[in-house]
Amino acid sequence: MMKILFVAGSNHPSATSTNLSLYLERLARAQGFDTSFCNLHAEPLPFYSPQGIGAEEANVRAFKRQLQEADAIVLASPEYHGSISGVLKNALDFASQDDFRGKPVLSVSSAGGAVGVSSLQQLQAIVRNLHGINAPEWLSIGSAQRRPFEKASHGDYEVESSIEDRIHRVLGSFLTLARALGSHKTHA
Ligand SMILES: Cc1cc2nc3c(=O)[nH]c(=O)nc-3n(C[C@H](O)[C@H](O)[C@H](O)COP(=O)(O)O)c2cc1C
Repeated sequence: MMKILFVAGSNHPSATSTNLSLYLERLARAQGFDTSFCNLHAEPLPFYSPQGIGAEEANVRAFKRQLQEADAIVLASPEYHGSISGVLKNALDFASQDDFRGKPVLSVSSAGGAVGVSSLQQLQAIVRNLHGINAPEWLSIGSAQRRPFEKASHGDYEVESSIEDRIHRVLGSFLTLARALGSHKTHA
């Protein structure tokens, strides 16, 4: 079974980007995908160090293992100053091209403004540098669209139909890409 890793890149316990990720995870599971979830608030990582300090910490090892086991990855971030959160960037600094190569990646953001496209562009630049495969679509919720996701509710949300349609379409095209690439995967 194909496995999708969701990385929730906020340092807030019930961030809208985290709750949106839980909603997406639930939809992916309903479509028969295996999933894993890394909430960087609940499982914080130390500051990345090029000298390898902290690399043996349990949360770092668990995150690296989740990356390696994933066939596809969803990266979710709050939009901070037109960019991604510090905790997500820090987490991605622990990743290497071996963790991302050939894997489809969906970028997701939550923004105070209408949509958070700057953070998505920057996420896609990071994915490209990690040799992941950026999904053709991306997903951002902004402003009042965040309201249903303000409370944690185990991935079960009442979402307005136009936003729900967009979420289903974007996730659907990502899962189609994941299946297409997964069916060609060669096991070394
Ligand atoms: C430090 C900081 C910087 C922010 N910068 C932006 C920004 O540049 N553009 C924007 O639309 N919203 C900005 N916001 C608002 C957040 O994007 C918004 O609250 C979003 O819902 C946070 O996502 P979360 O609920 O997943 O934490 C900023 C918030 C903070 C705390």
